[in-house]
Amino acid sequence: MDPFELELRFSRLDDERFVEQLYRLVLRRDPDGDGRASALTRLHRGRVSRARLLEEMVSSAEFLRVRALDDAITAARADRAGKQRPRDLSAPAGIDERAIEIRWTLSRYRGERYVLDFGSANAEPAYLAALLALGARSVTGVDIASAEIPGLELVQGDLRALPFAEGSVDLAFCISTLEHVGADNSRYGTGDGADIGGGSAEALTELRRVLRRGGRLLLTVPCGAHEEHGWFVQLEPAEWLDLFKRSGFFVREHELYLHAAGGWRSASSEEVGALSYGESGKGAAAVLCVELRAGDGPSLRERLHALRTRIDRAASFREGKPDDR
Ligand SMILES: C[S@@+](CC[C@H](N)C(=O)[O-])C[C@H]1O[C@@H](n2cnc3c(N)ncnc32)[C@H](O)[C@@H]1O
Repeated sequence: MDPFELELRFSRLDDERFVEQLYRLVLRRDPDGDGRASALTRLHRGRVSRARLLEEMVSSAEFLRVRALDDAITAARADRAGKQRPRDLSAPAGIDERAIEIRWTLSRYRGERYVLDFGSANAEPAYLAALLALGARSVTGVDIASAEIPGLELVQGDLRALPFAEGSVDLAFCISTLEHVGADNSRYGTGDGADIGGGSAEALTELRRVLRRGGRLLLTVPCGAHEEHGWFVQLEPAEWLDLFKRSGFFVREHELYLHAAGGWRSASSEEVGALSYGESGKGAAAVLCVELRAGDGPSLRERLHALRTRIDRAASFREGKPDDR
């Protein structure tokens, strides 16, 4: 379009509409009452230009998180195309753990047809949209809370008593949800907060039941010192891993992350073991990302891959080549 024509159209757009479009484009939401009122007043009084308002919004902490999630989703798409299992991820300081969890889990989708997502009622819209874009034949959300999510079938149900047949699910995502099972979920819209107790272990047993043999669970949980917070529990890394194994899962892969001054980074269990929830800002101080397989050992494919890797390493060693894997 001709630049003059474009500028004319832009100047004819009223402030109200401009502010609405700016919020939707940059922060991916409608303006809240205060935000709208403040932006309109400042525009009307000439205290701020439209370009300056845009700059402020893009420099905000809220946009930092929007961008981090968008980066994670975009990178996960490229990871899947290259069949990558990215590790050693990073995310900016000052945001919660979702950017790490979303990239780690979504990158590991491998074309499964029947997919479940647990804890969808309060999930990030960007994450839910990315789930729907995976290309699975069906994606069903499950949550004890009810919600209307356009495009996603959401089943209201308890992770401890799922309305699915044994062995009927290929893959399940469970982002920051397991730790809430059996806890007080009133903040998530589940009524008066009353729950029937029992928690992660019961949910894992039920998840194991509905997954087909060899089916996978891509899961994230807060990690650190053993803490009971009323609305969720946090366990030490070894406690979580032990619980997964006792529930009939093979831990195919896992990685820990912690939130430090420089941002989120991969960490060892020694670094994570004593951390308290919220000690380094809003949300978890550390998270555990895992890929669990329904079954008690690696698949034939994984065993062959491990064998091939060992043979290649031995060959490199014999030829005197440095092993850079
Ligand atoms: C932290 S929020 C969800 C996070 C979300 N998965 C995301 O990606 O951001 C935890 C969710 O777990 C759900 N939840 C808690 N207990 C549950 C249970 N027993 N069965 C199913 N969902 C449960 C809550 O209603 C809430 O939506």
